[in-house]
Amino acid sequence: MAKVAIIGQGYVGLTISAFAAKSYQVIGFDNNEKVVDRLNQGISHIEGVKSEDISAAITAGNYRATANGADIAGADIVVIAVPTPLDKDRKPDLTYIESACKLIAENITNPVLVINESTSYPGTIRSVIKPLIEKLATGKVAHLYAISPERVDPGRSDWDQKNTPRLYAGLTPEASKQTREFYSSFCDKLVEVSSPEVAEAAKLFENTFRQVNIALVNEFAQISHALGISVYETLDAADTKPYGFMKFNPSAGVGGHCIPVDPSYLSHVAAGLGVPATFIERANEVNLEMPKYVVARVAADNGGSLKGKKVQVIGISYKANVADTRETPAELVIEEAKKAGGEVTWHDDLVGTWKGQSSTPLGGADIAIVITLHDGVDKKAVLASAPYVFDTTGKLPGAKGL
Ligand SMILES: NC(=O)c1ccc[n+]([C@@H]2O[C@H](COP(=O)([O-])OP(=O)(O)OC[C@H]3O[C@@H](n4cnc5c(N)ncnc54)[C@H](O)[C@@H]3O)[C@@H](O)[C@H]2O)c1
Repeated sequence: MAKVAIIGQGYVGLTISAFAAKSYQVIGFDNNEKVVDRLNQGISHIEGVKSEDISAAITAGNYRATANGADIAGADIVVIAVPTPLDKDRKPDLTYIESACKLIAENITNPVLVINESTSYPGTIRSVIKPLIEKLATGKVAHLYAISPERVDPGRSDWDQKNTPRLYAGLTPEASKQTREFYSSFCDKLVEVSSPEVAEAAKLFENTFRQVNIALVNEFAQISHALGISVYETLDAADTKPYGFMKFNPSAGVGGHCIPVDPSYLSHVAAGLGVPATFIERANEVNLEMPKYVVARVAADNGGSLKGKKVQVIGISYKANVADTRETPAELVIEEAKKAGGEVTWHDDLVGTWKGQSSTPLGGADIAIVITLHDGVDKKAVLASAPYVFDTTGKLPGAKGL
């Protein structure tokens, strides 16, 4: 059985590991030893990856997690699935990719297929990953290189690794062929494109499309409110058009580490080429300003200030039914509400603890601001949790909202 090393055992890496372990012997490398220990006990830390599946793969001898780089030696395929965040200047931070390249260079001595699944700008596999591995490797090893950007949407059950079409392209025809063989073991539809740059750019454009449309609907929510009409009714009306319209919903902003991050990888590349990325930059601004707008609306409804008022922010993960708080707009809402003088607490039992604080019981505040509404949360209890409830989700009929 061929051996696959998957670097990074987070949302993407563990999901791929669980699928690949049905046909390959998978070594899941992660530099977080706590994550590795729990995985080796058969405990998944990722929504959508069942602990039973990890345990079954361990029992079958098809999966093992490790924090020891030497364990990836002897792999036939290496998949990179590490974070690609922004640095403090909101520029691409490829340090995790660089450290994955170092790990490969230091531990892999036979020729392998290296596939990058981490989201990054066009040219990453050709001009960053390949040259870096070649530079750091002690001997000269002729690896194959390919890109297959990950499209997984954590917490979603209707579209998964099996039925979501997967883009891919190798730097050489042989790399493309082997990449196809690997993914066809668990993915129904593979779409080869003519170059790795097309696959890398397509992934960034998909998320930029969402970012720009979310910003547009957030701006439209503000216009609708000023016009005295319901943004939701107006969007539903527009959505009756059978073609040429796609509905997006307004919100307190965007979160997770894809929509707020990936478009900046594209604008970075555009800036390097001297091409303006006006929409991307403006969309970022509109989405980042939404928390301020939300708190200003809440203050306006409450005598112009939150001074001395108890405010409870409800639902702090960046989207419903996941515990992921990365880049959550709830953080900025809390900050703004505090700036406006509110005594702010938060409630989200799915998240539990966040930034060293625990979720407070629902209720007991003067004002509730709903950022995310998980399916398991009782809507009536949320509506009854404070005398004034402002809902940014559009799921609480009767509450004030966008
Ligand atoms: N989560 C998503 O929904 C999603 C969807 C599509 C694409 N992506 C992209 O996939 C990539 C991975 O994202 P994720 O959500 O899986 O991240 P994550 O934070 O969930 O997981 C990353 C894992 O990599 C580990 N890690 C960090 N540096 C490492 C290193 N040098 N060596 C080994 N392990 C290391 C971390 O400990 C962590 O467990 C990113 O580029 C992201 O943009 C994510």
